[in-house]
Amino acid sequence: MSKKILVTGGSGYIGSHTVVELQQSGFEVVVIDNLSNSTARIIDQIGRITGKKPRFYEMDLCNEAALRVFFRENQDLAAIIHFAAFKAVSESVENPLKYYHNNLVSLIFLLRFMEGFQIPNLVFSSSCTVYGQPETLPVTEQAPVKQAFSPYGNTKQISEEIIEDSVKASPVNAISLRYFNPIGAHESGLIGELPIGIPNNLVPFITQTAIGKREKLMVFGDDYDTPDGTAIRDYIHVVDLAKAHVVAVERLLRNENEHNFEVFNLGTGKGTSVMEAILAFEKVTGMKLNYEITGRRMGDVPQVWADTTMANLKLGWKAQKGLEEMMTSAWLWEKNLAAGILES
Ligand code: UD1
Repeated sequence: MSKKILVTGGSGYIGSHTVVELQQSGFEVVVIDNLSNSTARIIDQIGRITGKKPRFYEMDLCNEAALRVFFRENQDLAAIIHFAAFKAVSESVENPLKYYHNNLVSLIFLLRFMEGFQIPNLVFSSSCTVYGQPETLPVTEQAPVKQAFSPYGNTKQISEEIIEDSVKASPVNAISLRYFNPIGAHESGLIGELPIGIPNNLVPFITQTAIGKREKLMVFGDDYDTPDGTAIRDYIHVVDLAKAHVVAVERLLRNENEHNFEVFNLGTGKGTSVMEAILAFEKVTGMKLNYEITGRRMGDVPQVWADTTMANLKLGWKAQKGLEEMMTSAWLWEKNLAAGILES
């Protein structure tokens, strides 16, 4: 049986960690990425970690003709893991059509080619953003999908609907993985998150502040109805998340899925406040972080964390790494970036 997997967005943050885990589990990986939010140096770094550089196609998934050529050359794919998408919330509000076009057209092309070339399995990169602020915590996969706050979030919701509808009418099987807040980096310090410009997300902002690239971290709100007043998220180590993709692909390859469209939450099941995250960073680095409490950020939900029972039971997967490991690895990566690891 073919063990060849296409990873779209494979030079991106979660994609690159997943390529490493797939290769280390014996899969052959091919990557498509248009490098809009990453660099080809990450492909070299993957090679350094695993001893094998994945085959890399620099290509835009909205380029139908190029995709056709790719699928003609790669008719033996066992599965596709589809990460490639734009993901900046505020940019999606400013330029919604850019997001709808990129994130949805690419998916539709992929699904069409999967049918045409009989590629049977898809793992899709979704987000807990589909739940908005859930009524009950921890949030299960049965919680209602709330109206999206941003065009980015809406592309995740619409993508899930497109996949669910299209697999009903085709032999394709799909698993949608709803990520909570992925942070951290590979323990080697060779790959990690590469925010372009000013980071939107908490942990890159913390590490960039500590390294001196940013003056201080703004803590968005300390008046939430939470124990310390700051907002709560379910932070998950990106390597744990990457491993979940391997087991999801294996579930599909072994035909163990119970439906042709399944959804799983990927988190630790534990909520952490912004202040607790800062304290964990200070503890593992021995540094004092420069931060200031400011007003809430528009669109932020007060608290969300995952019920991971389904992933535990059905995927046989559980997050292993704790907050301190997440912070230690994120800091090693930031230091390596500052030392020019991607330039040498
Ligand atoms: C954000 C996106 C979400 C996306 C996810 C993927 C928003 C509103 N949501 O989630 O749609 O799927 O990233 O990465 O952008 N914080 C600060 N100061 C900062 C940055 C963040 O206090 O400089 C706080 C936030 O208010 C939040 C927590 O840290 O409470 C986590 O923020 P972030 O890392 O941006 O993730 P989300 O907002 O959960």
